[in-house]
Amino acid sequence: MQLEYFTLGVLTFLMTGATCEETEVFAEAGSQAVLPCTFSPLSRFIPSIIWTKANKGTVWRKGKSGLQFWGSSWSQKGTQRVRCPHSQFENGDFSLQINNVREEDGGVYSCRAEHGDRVSEKVVTLRIIEVSVSSSVPTWGSYASISCNVTPWPHRASVQWTLNNIPFVPQTGTASRRETSKRVVKEKATARLTGNWTCVVGYKGKEGRASAAVTVNGIIEPSNDNTKVYAAVGSAVTLPCVFSSSMIPSGSVWEKLKPGFLIKPAPGRLPASFSASSPSSPLPSDKSASLREVRFEDEGKYRCSGAISGQRLTRQMQLVVAKIGSSITSKGSVTLTCHLTDTSEVTHYEWVHVAYDLNGNRSVGSLQKGKTLSINKVSEENRGDLACRFYGKDGMLGNVTHHIPLMSALSGQKSPGGSHNTAVVVGLGFLLLVLLLILAQMYKNHQRRKRIFQYPAMETIVHSVSNEREERERNHEKK
Ligand SMILES: *[C@@H]1O[C@H](CO)[C@@H](O)[C@H](O)[C@H]1NC(C)=O
Ligand SMILES: *[C@@H]1O[C@H](CO)[C@@H](O)[C@H](O)[C@H]1NC(C)=O
Ligand SMILES: *[C@@H]1O[C@H](CO)[C@@H](O)[C@H](O)[C@H]1NC(C)=O
Repeated sequence: MQLEYFTLGVLTFLMTGATCEETEVFAEAGSQAVLPCTFSPLSRFIPSIIWTKANKGTVWRKGKSGLQFWGSSWSQKGTQRVRCPHSQFENGDFSLQINNVREEDGGVYSCRAEHGDRVSEKVVTLRIIEVSVSSSVPTWGSYASISCNVTPWPHRASVQWTLNNIPFVPQTGTASRRETSKRVVKEKATARLTGNWTCVVGYKGKEGRASAAVTVNGIIEPSNDNTKVYAAVGSAVTLPCVFSSSMIPSGSVWEKLKPGFLIKPAPGRLPASFSASSPSSPLPSDKSASLREVRFEDEGKYRCSGAISGQRLTRQMQLVVAKIGSSITSKGSVTLTCHLTDTSEVTHYEWVHVAYDLNGNRSVGSLQKGKTLSINKVSEENRGDLACRFYGKDGMLGNVTHHIPLMSALSGQKSPGGSHNTAVVVGLGFLLLVLLLILAQMYKNHQRRKRIFQYPAMETIVHSVSNEREERERNHEKK
């Protein structure tokens, strides 16, 4: 009998041990967490339920009478962050909802159901996951660390990072296997770090994730050094230098860098038409500069700089100047060549013909691909301009226009001058014809006179020949 009781006791212990399983729940800080607690409905009567948190006492309790009680720390100013929806009680579901979870809500919870002398318990570990950034808006060039915090931290959990939904591979090569290094991404703040960071923690088959948006303060345009800005000779150009909005950089400076000083640039003279402001920069965060009229020798590297919160930020860019060179070939035709001071980004060239109609509407027609264009290929009727467009792998980089003043001038003067020329030509031709006719007449007359002299001579020859024959015949008859 005693043995039977003992066996039953062990069995009950084992069974309660089995029902007292631990559940893992992840919840992102600020969201709602649901701690599951379900029992198969034992009877029509709803048991009394008590939710407790380890070391924190009662969270929520409902007695047999149906009265609810909240733990003092879970009820503030009459509003409760925790609740257990009644509607599910009949299904044996006593899951606890915690709204707006915080780091300190993380921990081990227990759900006990008492029905008469039967007690069942569920244990739930709530882990609060949150992504934090060392500085909410790190300044460009400073080190920023982005951490994945889970409270309590699950040991031997896996941690993965995504940035804008793309798995992020830290650049800092010394990625040790220690857990802190997995949870913390430490990177130099650049545009690369801007975006939505998500940390995904995997533990015991469950997954928790949290996100944070990171913006980096600094020069947002151009976003990196050695950006190329293309301009045609004679045109105006803006050299961009735009800081993060709401940033007012102090002591902003523009410099032109002397060529050949790649490591330690030495400032050179700024171009004649340089202006440290741009027509399109009304914002104090926009420190773009402009060149009113670009010359071929203005090409090269430029640098803008400004200080944000005591840190000096700089950005370099390269002005690439395009021009059209023309040369006359031995056959007399003109060859146009598209010249750029840097062609490293150029993949191909295209020559187009730009014409304007009476309304000023522009029409662009493609002439040919390639760096050079022989101007004879353009029909003289085509008024307008020739433009060389140059393309990179992402589309058109820029264009440079060649005006055709000579050709249009010629074709413009030809029509009034043409009739005059024709008259002269016709007149001269007529004169020539008359002269030719006179010459022909003179020749004819000369010929005729010659023939008159010829005939007597011929008569004498014919005569003497016949005389001779007659004489020979006579002689023959005589013999
Ligand atoms: C960041 O990404 C996560 C997951 O892709 C998404 O749930 C969240 O809404 C995003 N947050 C922002 C601020 O874009
Ligand atoms: C040309 O311009 C006029 C007015 O500027 C406009 O009404 C017309 O539609 C344009 N034609 C073309 C072909 O774009
Ligand atoms: C040349 O470039 C300017 C500025 O990008 C553009 O407005 C213009 O349409 C281009 N012209 C041609 C012929 O492509």
